[in-house]
Amino acid sequence: MKQLKYFFFLPVSIILISVSCTRDTDLAEQSGNWIVRASLGGPARYKAVSFVLYDTAYVATGYDGTYKYNDTWAFYPDANNAYGAWQQKASIPAPPPASGSGKLGRSNAVGFAITLTSGLMKGYLATGLDGDANRMKDTWEYDPKADSWAQKLDFPEKPDPNGNANGRYDASAFGIGAKGYLTCGFNGNPLSDLWIFDPTGTLGTWTQGTNFPGFKRSGAVAFVYNNLGYLATGQNNTSTASVNDFWSYDPNGAAGGLWTKLKDIANTSTDSYDDDYTDIVRSGAVAFVMNNASTPKAYITTGQN
Ligand SMILES: *[C@@H]1O[C@H](CO)[C@@H](O)[C@H](O)[C@H]1NC(C)=O
Ligand SMILES: *[C@@H]1O[C@H](CO)[C@@H](O)[C@H](O)[C@H]1NC(C)=O
Ligand SMILES: *[C@@H]1O[C@H](CO)[C@@H](O)[C@H](O)[C@H]1NC(C)=O
Ligand SMILES: *[C@@H]1O[C@H](CO)[C@@H](O)[C@H](O)[C@H]1NC(C)=O
Ligand SMILES: *[C@@H]1O[C@H](CO)[C@@H](O)[C@H](O)[C@H]1NC(C)=O
Repeated sequence: MKQLKYFFFLPVSIILISVSCTRDTDLAEQSGNWIVRASLGGPARYKAVSFVLYDTAYVATGYDGTYKYNDTWAFYPDANNAYGAWQQKASIPAPPPASGSGKLGRSNAVGFAITLTSGLMKGYLATGLDGDANRMKDTWEYDPKADSWAQKLDFPEKPDPNGNANGRYDASAFGIGAKGYLTCGFNGNPLSDLWIFDPTGTLGTWTQGTNFPGFKRSGAVAFVYNNLGYLATGQNNTSTASVNDFWSYDPNGAAGGLWTKLKDIANTSTDSYDDDYTDIVRSGAVAFVMNNASTPKAYITTGQN
């Protein structure tokens, strides 16, 4: 049941890490399979966040086109003979209304998981858009053992073009070891600054790290493998184009972390294996890493292009 921890299988045609398979035709080579599992217990939604703590996946917040949600759901993949089961958890306390009606809930936030130096895992949620579409900068910590959310230090948003230091949305974030990393997104301007969240202390701290050197963007996916963060896709926010560059982030590679440019996700070889790579370009997608039979691979799916 181990693979179910990460929910799904996906076709190899969209594998990012392994480029070793070559094909003579354009027929997508399929491996793996999608199998339906228990649907989310709460209302259908998009622009939600997720993180994995221990063997449980959590989904929180989101938008159904009318309402924004503050709820949290846990998914237990091994329950019901591996059909999975959802259980509602504590909702995120409503933040003080920034302005307008102060409707509860949020969308377009980021979530990430941190393994504290004590070995305990906590989930984090930051930034987003509130029910009145105000940009948010608050940070919340979820403790799965206590089933409770605690507010942490606000994300230190820089002023937007109008001089307002309200938050950002459609950012990207990942947790590596005992710290969280948040970059890109939109605050009225497209962004590429990177901030490091250290949960040590009562409220934790945010410190600025090495800026993401790629195009400023929003709606990019991030995933973690082997203590490196990876960032791909997203909307090139100075045009309407989606971007195809691919980067890794090593938190220990330099002071503030080291970004390294990897191969573009593009049809660059004369072989046919990458002929469909242009289809990978997208924004608002999801990504995850799955370690199948000791062969780890990263997967990207959904989103828009
Ligand atoms: C997972 O690993 C098994 C055994 O190596 C292999 O047969 C299968 O195709 C792999 N699945 C995916 C989705 O890569
Ligand atoms: C979450 O939002 C609902 C309204 O949708 C509200 O009734 C509830 O009090 C909120 N929960 C918290 C913890 O703020
Ligand atoms: C940048 O992205 C934001 C959010 O995705 C969007 O509202 C804005 O229109 C975009 N700007 C440009 C110039 O594409
Ligand atoms: C992003 O947009 C800028 C401005 O239009 C353009 O110069 C750049 O080539 C674009 N990058 C990609 C990867 O599309
Ligand atoms: C992709 O590569 C193939 C050769 O494998 C070539 O025929 C095709 O024109 C390329 N497409 C683009 C968009 O470069």
